[in-house]
This record gives sequence, C-alpha cells and structure tokens, in this order.
Amino acid sequence: MLVGPGDDAGVYLLPGNHAIVETVDIITPVVNNPFEFGAISTANSLSDVYAMGGKPLTALALVGFSSCDFGPKVIAEILKGAVDMLNKAGVSLLGGHSFENPEIRFGLSVTGIINKDKILRKSGAIPGNVIIITKPLGIGVITTALKGRRLKDKDIRTAVKWMLTLNDKASEAALKADASSATDVTGFGLLGHASNMLAGTDVNFIIEPKAIPVIDKTRAMIASGMIPEGAYNNLKFFEGEVEYPRGFSEDEKLLLADPQTSGGLLITLAADRLDVFRKMAVPCTVIGRVEKGKGKIRVI
Ligand code: CO
Ligand code: CO
Repeated sequence: MLVGPGDDAGVYLLPGNHAIVETVDIITPVVNNPFEFGAISTANSLSDVYAMGGKPLTALALVGFSSCDFGPKVIAEILKGAVDMLNKAGVSLLGGHSFENPEIRFGLSVTGIINKDKILRKSGAIPGNVIIITKPLGIGVITTALKGRRLKDKDIRTAVKWMLTLNDKASEAALKADASSATDVTGFGLLGHASNMLAGTDVNFIIEPKAIPVIDKTRAMIASGMIPEGAYNNLKFFEGEVEYPRGFSEDEKLLLADPQTSGGLLITLAADRLDVFRKMAVPCTVIGRVEKGKGKIRVI
C-alpha cells in the first residue's frame, strides 16, 4: 500500500511496478435532471483519481433508490448520464449494484493507474509555492438555492457547467507543472480541504479571499439565507485552524466553507512553474501562497 486512507484515493503497488489508484463516492441529487445528475456524480467520483494524478480506467456503479417512488426510467436516465461522462473520460463501466434506499443515491467506485513516482499527495506544499484553484466556489450554495426554490434550473447553468467539467486536464497540468501537492475541493469546502493539506506539516497557507473566483449569484444567495448546512458544520470543524482578518463577515467565512460537488483541484506548485500549468489551457486562479508555519491557514 503506497497511499492508505486519508488521502483523496488509495494507491496500491502491483507486481511489475505498476500502481493502481482506487476510490468510491456516492451522492444525493444536486440537480433535477436525472441524466445530468448521473453525469455530475460521475465527474465527482472520478475526481479523486485525478486529484492523485492517476488515470481512471474502470468503474462500478452504485445506485440506491426507493422502488415505490421511482420507476426504472429515472434510474436508466441517471445511468445514461453516467455512461456519457465515463465515455468522455475514457473509462469502462464494468458493472455495479443497486439497493433500496428512501432517497436516491448514486456514485461510482473507480479504479485507475498511476505512476508510483508521480503521486499528487495531499501534503507536500513547499514554502514559496503558490496555491491555485481550478473551479470557482459557490456550487453548494447554488444547488441549495435550487432545492429551496430560490433559483430555477435555468438560473444554475454556470454551476452545472462547472460540475460537469472533469478534472482530467487540471490533473495533467498539475503533473506537468510538478505540483508539490493537490486535492479536490468537495464536501469540506475550500478551507476544509486546505486544512487537510496542512495537517501535520510545517507550512501555512496564506489565502487571499478577494482573488477567489465565485459563481454569479452565490453571494446574493448566501445573503438571503440559502446556505447549506454543511457550510456551518465545516466552519465549526476547522475553527481553530483558520485566522481571519478583522471584520471578516460570517457570510464570507461560509462561502470559503461552502461544500462543493465535483469541485476543482486545489494545487500547490512553484511560482516559476505556473506558466507550464497555464500553457495547458486549464482555467486556474492563484489564490494564495505557502509559507513556513505550523499547519495553519491565514486568510488575509
Ligand atoms: Co477528494
Ligand atoms: Co472523496
């Protein structure tokens, strides 16, 4: 075992020096359209393999639903969306399993290959590195607003577009640019995943909130109370790990803790390798830097 529980995915060394990377994730619907939900959940499940620098090859589908509430038509649409996204990623669906559940749940167990000498681990950031993010924040708030009927399907197209964007190119760019560490921003929000990258390290992350890209309407939705419960839980969870500037509002904190579905990669790399990353034409924004420290986040 080269990487065990605690990172985005596990890595196991096979005879012959090949290494496999494995992960599983399963989520509840974030959009109304079942085809899109299947595709989003698939991009989300594949993301942990990309966050390790691996290439996904095969997948097994897991679907939970209540057979009284949903017919085979809805499930078939979810699976069609999943297969569509797997085709885009060049991944073969080998099978799966369904189970009775009061609420719809869908996700995949994914296996890929990885170069054992080029694993993008969670920790490894080096003082002087820059911190970049490849997708904007706000997905949790926007999908909460959809569930709360404050936004309609047509209002959330930008969020859907980002959730449907695979992290494959971002992963490739991170490897090319010799990233020192990487993870994907999902349920724990930007600050939660940043704090995971810092656990047990002797570096700090300096985060510039004004530099962080945010999906349109996110701040308005937060102001009107459309805040996922997970954002509150996240904030409480890493309370002592983060230092905020004076007068930093609760709304801004909640945005930095917003749980993402199929969020972007959070990557640290040498500042002089940034142009190598940018040449790969993957959207990316520098949101801070790494300095010597004690595993804390300083929001400035
Ligand atoms: Co992850
Ligand atoms: Co995960």
